[in-house]
Amino acid sequence: MSKILAIESSCDETAASVVEDGRKVLSNIIASQIKTHELYGGVVPEIASRKHLEAIDLCISQALLEAGTDLKEVDAVAVTYGPGLVGALLVGVAEAKALAYAAGKPLIGVNHIRGHIAANYITNPDWEPPYLCLIVSGGHTHLVLVKDYTEFEILGKTRDDAAGEAFDKVARAIGLGYPGGPKIDRVAKEGNPEAIHFPRPCLDEEGYSFSFSGLKSAVLNYLNQLDMKGETYVQADVAASFQQSIVDVLVTKTMQAAKEFGMKKIALAGGVSANSAIRAGFEKACKKHGYELNIPELVYCTDNAAMIGCAGYYQYLQKDFADLSLNAVPNDGLK
Ligand code: KG4
Ligand code: ZN
Repeated sequence: MSKILAIESSCDETAASVVEDGRKVLSNIIASQIKTHELYGGVVPEIASRKHLEAIDLCISQALLEAGTDLKEVDAVAVTYGPGLVGALLVGVAEAKALAYAAGKPLIGVNHIRGHIAANYITNPDWEPPYLCLIVSGGHTHLVLVKDYTEFEILGKTRDDAAGEAFDKVARAIGLGYPGGPKIDRVAKEGNPEAIHFPRPCLDEEGYSFSFSGLKSAVLNYLNQLDMKGETYVQADVAASFQQSIVDVLVTKTMQAAKEFGMKKIALAGGVSANSAIRAGFEKACKKHGYELNIPELVYCTDNAAMIGCAGYYQYLQKDFADLSLNAVPNDGLK
């Protein structure tokens, strides 16, 4: 039995967790900075780093306390080293290095996207590779073949904005503010998803690339045109129609990939997979095609450290350890 202390600080949540054998979450502490960044309409990197510094020690002590353990008892310290905001990542990386060195424990550097994928193992302890995984977050939109716990093949990614970025930018344009994803999700429930036909980018193309900046521009153009005519828009209809366009693109591309690669198991990951219309769209499509679907519980969709402890466990089994030269890599790719 092995226990991993995991730390995550890549964006605007400071998080620490203790995970047993990669699947059992003994504690999952998250200090969100949303209230602070809300004042500025988005994440301010410098403020994020400072807030991580303020919160990290307490998060770690709390995670150890709730797990009924201490640093001496854990088997390794895992930390997100990238991708993410460099100053934010550095806080977690420096802390993990110090703890691992002081306690004489192995240090594991975890890629944040691997962490999001691993969230699936927490929610469903029977879930195993191989499967197809769509990762949709604030920074990433990746369609990935998960061949094994530490072996990935990227089929496609976004060429420009990530799906979450599109949610956040459209939310700002229709006056909902930050963080946009959950707000659009809520408002869209009152709207008509067929009220406005926004484009479905990349659907008529071969391959698995995504692109969301054109969709965002289409929404902005729609709002500007109405504004020039002195007309107003229906916020809920814009939210629902925009969201439907994203659902159609994500579901269609994923189903095409599942067919092409003969994958009958599909997983979602990342903050945007918390979206209720996306979850419902995938449930419907997977049922129709007879695919098995796994989606992390809401708390494991958005950033958390338990998913890092889970991904870190599989590196621990392979003795894939980092040394004290581990550094933050803001644009680290999924390998
Ligand atoms: O995975 P995450 O917490 O951080 C990154 O790794 O980027 O994802 C954050 C993103 C934000 O863009 C946020 O607006 C989006 O996930 N998000 C949602 C929902 N909840 C969070 N997007 C759509 N619907 C939601 N319910
Ligand atoms: Zn994330």
